[in-house]
Amino acid sequence: MKQVNVAILGCGTVGTGVARLLLDNGDIIRDRIGCALHLKYVADIDMDRARGLDLAPGVMIPDAAAAIADPDVHIVVETIGGEGIAKKLIMGAIAGGKHVVTANKALLAKHGNAIIEAATARRVDLAYEASVGGCMPIIKAVRESLVGNRISGMTGILNGTCNYILSKITDEGVDFKTALAEAQAKGYAEADPTLDVGGYDAAHKLAILSALAFGMKINFDDVFIEGISRITPLDIEFAAQFGYRIKLLAIAKFDGESVEARVHPTMIPFDNLLSNVNSTLNAISIKADAVDEILLYGHGAGMMPTASAIVSDLADIARNLASDGAGRIPVMGFQADTIRSIPV
Ligand code: HSE
Repeated sequence: MKQVNVAILGCGTVGTGVARLLLDNGDIIRDRIGCALHLKYVADIDMDRARGLDLAPGVMIPDAAAAIADPDVHIVVETIGGEGIAKKLIMGAIAGGKHVVTANKALLAKHGNAIIEAATARRVDLAYEASVGGCMPIIKAVRESLVGNRISGMTGILNGTCNYILSKITDEGVDFKTALAEAQAKGYAEADPTLDVGGYDAAHKLAILSALAFGMKINFDDVFIEGISRITPLDIEFAAQFGYRIKLLAIAKFDGESVEARVHPTMIPFDNLLSNVNSTLNAISIKADAVDEILLYGHGAGMMPTASAIVSDLADIARNLASDGAGRIPVMGFQADTIRSIPV
């Protein structure tokens, strides 16, 4: 049985969830992928916070750079977030020949082109299923399941915090501030919640998805963005009187020449499926020529759903590493013999 060594950088909500899944479900993951995902390091400057993780001695360390520098580490999971230290560590990991898994949509939306270029040059995998839609396998759907399709459009609810706030106001009459505070307390919101309510987080995700779906560079700057902070309970009430719910939608359309990408509050008729996607749930409909339309639905935020997506990326990369090329599931479209930079 081969073993793939994993280092988690940043043990906040999502990092803790990934560690928990690897510890609690390591046996079934191993049986499914044919190699063990071994948690070698969990790096976080806050060593003392109670996380409820039963880590072996020496696994928790304060220095992320030390985890990256360890030649035995095969895959680095970045769950720090933000664009500063996270970018530095990811670039350092790639330079060191590590495969990287990240949920960092803000970083990918703004610096993803450079990071992908670095990963391609160094021939390591960069996987980011958790960056869009939490547990929904949207990246895999666009990159793998729909590989034989021309995708013409996507319409989704991609921010759990906004959906939670709008659902709470609509269904329970909770005020905006209270609903946002609840979303923050549950660990759904970004460290800076204006990224959520301002529509930026959904736009980050749409920029990443559009690049994959339409075969273009990531272009966050050209996404039109309007958030939900100006939506009032009266807007929601009027919409309901006419048979609509208000949702923050992320929409991308490709006409064969250019892409239109926008995020804004939208009135959706009660009988539309997206109108009934509430709380922190996300959903996305993808239109493509061979399949017509598919719809994905699931928890778009939160510790364990996001961790689940990260572990799916870990499993893909570990399978590649352990398979000696056979039965390889492509992660970034490299050839089988080009990704094995570290012997397992
Ligand atoms: N703040 C994000 C959301 C977290 O609410 O959807 C998941 O990306």
